[in-house]
Amino acid sequence: MRADLDHAATTPPRPEVLEVLVRWLPAANASARHLPGQDARAAVEEARERAAAALGCTPADVVFTSGGTEADNLALKGVVWAARTARRAAGDDAPVHVVTTAVEHAAVREALRWLADRGEVELDVVAPRPDGRVDAADVLDRVRSDTALVSVMGANNETGAVNDVATIGADLRARGVPFHVDSVQCIATLDVDLDAWHADALAVSAHKIGGPQGVGVAVLRRGVDVEPLAHGGGQDRGVRSGTFAVGLVAACAEALTRAVAERAALRARLRDLSDRLAAGVADLDGVHRTGPGDPAHRLASHVHLELDGVDGDALQLALDAAGVAASSGSACSSGAGRGSAVMAAMGRDGTPLRLSLGWTTTADEIDHAVAVLREAVPRLRSGAPVLDLGLRPVAAPAARDGAA
Ligand SMILES: Cc1ncc(COP(=O)(O)O)c(C=O)c1O
Repeated sequence: MRADLDHAATTPPRPEVLEVLVRWLPAANASARHLPGQDARAAVEEARERAAAALGCTPADVVFTSGGTEADNLALKGVVWAARTARRAAGDDAPVHVVTTAVEHAAVREALRWLADRGEVELDVVAPRPDGRVDAADVLDRVRSDTALVSVMGANNETGAVNDVATIGADLRARGVPFHVDSVQCIATLDVDLDAWHADALAVSAHKIGGPQGVGVAVLRRGVDVEPLAHGGGQDRGVRSGTFAVGLVAACAEALTRAVAERAALRARLRDLSDRLAAGVADLDGVHRTGPGDPAHRLASHVHLELDGVDGDALQLALDAAGVAASSGSACSSGAGRGSAVMAAMGRDGTPLRLSLGWTTTADEIDHAVAVLREAVPRLRSGAPVLDLGLRPVAAPAARDGAA
C-alpha cells in the first residue's frame, strides 16, 4: 500500500490534462503567421480566456509563466522596478518600501530579500501569530504613504494557515497600494477571488492542481505597472517574452478550469479526509496539530503536525519505507539541511510533518498513513528499529534543491 500525502509538493496530472498536453505537443510557433502558427496562436488565446475565466480576471491580465516561482518573481521584481523607474524620473533614487510576511514561500521571500540586499527595496517583514496566520492589522500597521507593494500569501504551503487577504486588500485598494497574493497553494481548495481580495497580482502553478510541472500564471491586472524580467520577442504584452509553450499553457488552462469547477466538492471531500487523518493521530503522545484551530482558517488539504523527540530524517526514512510520501518539514532553501523558516517564525522547534491531500487521495491512503504513524512514532522516539514494518528499506534522501 502506498499513500501519496505530499500533494502540496506536487500533484499527479489529471488524464484529461495530459490529453490536452499531448494534443498540442508538438505545436507550431504561435507567433508565426502561417496557418499552423495561427492554430497554435488560437490555442494560446483560448487557454488565456479559460485561465482568465477560472481566475476571475480578464484575458489581458493573464501572463503565462514557467510556474509559481516565476510568477511571483515577475510580479515582485516587475512592480518594484516599475516603481523605481517612476520615482527615479522624479529624482527619487531611494529604495522603495515593501511589506511582506515571514511565512512566504521562498519564491517570494528570497526574491524580496535579493532586492533588499541590492539596495532596491526597504523591506518590512511581518511575523505570524503563533498559529501561523498573519494578522491583517499587523500588515496594515506597516503600510506607509510611500509603500510600493504588499505581498501576502493566500495560504501557507507548510501549515495550510489561511490569511485574511480580503481585509488587507480592501484597505490597500483604498490607499492605492499594489497588492500581490501568492495563491499557488490555496487555489486547489480556496475560492481565489481577485475582486473580493482586491488583488492586483496573483501567482498560481499548474502542477499543484493536476496540471503539468513547468507552467503557471501571473495575473497582472492592467493599470499596475510592471517591468519585464525577460526581454525578447514581446510576447504576452511585452511583459514576458519567449516562444509560447503551447502544450503547457493549454494544459495549464485545462487544469485550472477543472480545479475551479470541482473545487467545492474537493474541499468537502478533503475536509473529511484530513479530519480523519488528524483524529487518527490525535491521541499519540508528543504529536501536536499546528496551525489555526478554526477549520475556516486552514486549508482542507493540509494536516501539519509537530512531533516532540523525533528526528526528522529518521521519520522521513520510516515513512518512505512504509510507502507514505509526506514532507517532514519543507527542506530549507538550499536543500542541504532541515529547517523550516515558517516553524521558526511561529516560534516552534519540534519536528514538523506535513501531510497534504489532493484530488487522488482516498480513505485507504489516509488509514494506511495513520497506521504507519501510530507504529513508527513511538518506535522512533524509543530508538527501536522502524525498518521492520514489513516494508523495504530506503536510502537516505539526498540533499535537494528548493522547498515546495
Ligand atoms: C506558496 C508557493 N508559492 C510558490 C511556489 C513555487 O511554485 P512552482 O513550484 O510552480 O515554482 C510554491 C511551490 O511549492 C508554493 O507552495
